[in-house]
Amino acid sequence: MSKFLWGGAVSSSQYEGGYPRIRTSLDTQDCRAYIPRTSNATTSTRLLTIDRVLSAKDDAEHQKYPFRTGSKGIEFVKEDVELLKELGINIFRFSISWTFLLPDNKNINPKAVEYYDYLINELKGSGIKIFLMLNHYAVPLDLVLNIGGWKNRKMIDHYLYFVRKVFELWGEKIDFFVPINEINAGYFSPYNGVGLIKEIDKDYNQSDIFKSLHHQFVASAKTIELAKNMGLNAKSGSMIACFCYYPYSCKPIENLKLTLDENLHQWFCMDVLSRGYYPSYIKVYFKKNNIDFEITDEDINVLKNNTCDFVSFSYYQSGVISEQEEEKTAGNLVITTKNPYLVATEWGWQIDPIGLRTTLNRIYDRYQKPVIICENGLGYQDKLNSDNTINDQYRIDYLNQHFEQIKLAQEDGVDVISYIMWGVIDIVSAGSCEMTKRYGVIYVDADNNGNGSYKRYKKDSFKWYKDFIKKENEKE
Ligand code: BG6
Repeated sequence: MSKFLWGGAVSSSQYEGGYPRIRTSLDTQDCRAYIPRTSNATTSTRLLTIDRVLSAKDDAEHQKYPFRTGSKGIEFVKEDVELLKELGINIFRFSISWTFLLPDNKNINPKAVEYYDYLINELKGSGIKIFLMLNHYAVPLDLVLNIGGWKNRKMIDHYLYFVRKVFELWGEKIDFFVPINEINAGYFSPYNGVGLIKEIDKDYNQSDIFKSLHHQFVASAKTIELAKNMGLNAKSGSMIACFCYYPYSCKPIENLKLTLDENLHQWFCMDVLSRGYYPSYIKVYFKKNNIDFEITDEDINVLKNNTCDFVSFSYYQSGVISEQEEEKTAGNLVITTKNPYLVATEWGWQIDPIGLRTTLNRIYDRYQKPVIICENGLGYQDKLNSDNTINDQYRIDYLNQHFEQIKLAQEDGVDVISYIMWGVIDIVSAGSCEMTKRYGVIYVDADNNGNGSYKRYKKDSFKWYKDFIKKENEKE
């Protein structure tokens, strides 16, 4: 049995920063302003309208837009890499910024090559495996404004051009790759997920959403095909956000609702990518809801012949499906019914370590492929003490409880091969644009308005995770 891989992750838009000095071209995330939170819901910061995008585009007050600065990763990369090495992780997940690498969608930016060369070579040189998320939410803004983002089929070719460049530069060094982050996010969060701009006072057009997702499926399959044609050894994966739904009661009708909602919200995208075809339930859903878009014979073949090697998912909370309107709470991407048996974070996300074990069992049972938990962690407003310590026992407890459930899932027979902690270095929150929703074991000294030294400090959880990984590695 190969060694279990314990890791950490960040994404380019949430971590790197560098705009406009080093990274010169805007992406979709760069247009999202920080708006102080008045409730748990993050829709106002996530679903952008055209007037907000256009005013952000021409706004030179960069500090208002947290993703332009991120955690200043480009500036602090040397220090961060040393901290990751010290932490002893076996695998690091990150994404490549499309606009950093190809500012005009064509020519390679040497500064980006220098940055990613350093990151990849340093990690590989220390025996840390590379998990590359080819695209994590951020797409070039000009492609959204000029061609409409993923709803335009031309986006597949633009994306594949970018992927080809990435593979040519670093393909040999990648251990695992996933084409699109949390692919089912497009359904819940169309601006982040598929680059769709919201029309004021109108709901998103469902055909646009599913057409965009279809283009992402084809792009994903073509990425796997390209990796095979280029002879890369990297394992290919797909990723969804998982919500571990429970029925509110044991009423049969509520359980049926759970099955149907879960298919649509969670499994649909992975069913297509892992099995290679559209499941029958979604075809029925399309028909009932007049959802229509083009699926060519070539699309069908490319999906069939290029399924993923492993399945991966993010997991932050479980949810509840109720037939009647019950009290609601927030979660990653979704609003869900409150579960009286669980406690929630300040953002309303219901903490449920057992739900992780359940999810691992369900996903493995459904796809029978190796599983990677590629995102999990606790968002919390940590406090930096005057002596530069951060006492985050709550995060240690959270991690410990989730790790216990991973072990139990392994005993259940699940082939789970890796755990990758989200936001191992504090980053800007993708949902709420807050810097103070922290996930890391490494603290970044910055606030929601971009003030601070951006210096890095080790939290108590840093030592705990480090010791944990060391002991695990010694065992095997
Ligand atoms: C996932 C995203 O949805 O959840 C990450 O892939 C994100 O980018 C993570 O950061 C946690 O969500 P948030 O809103 O707390 O940043």
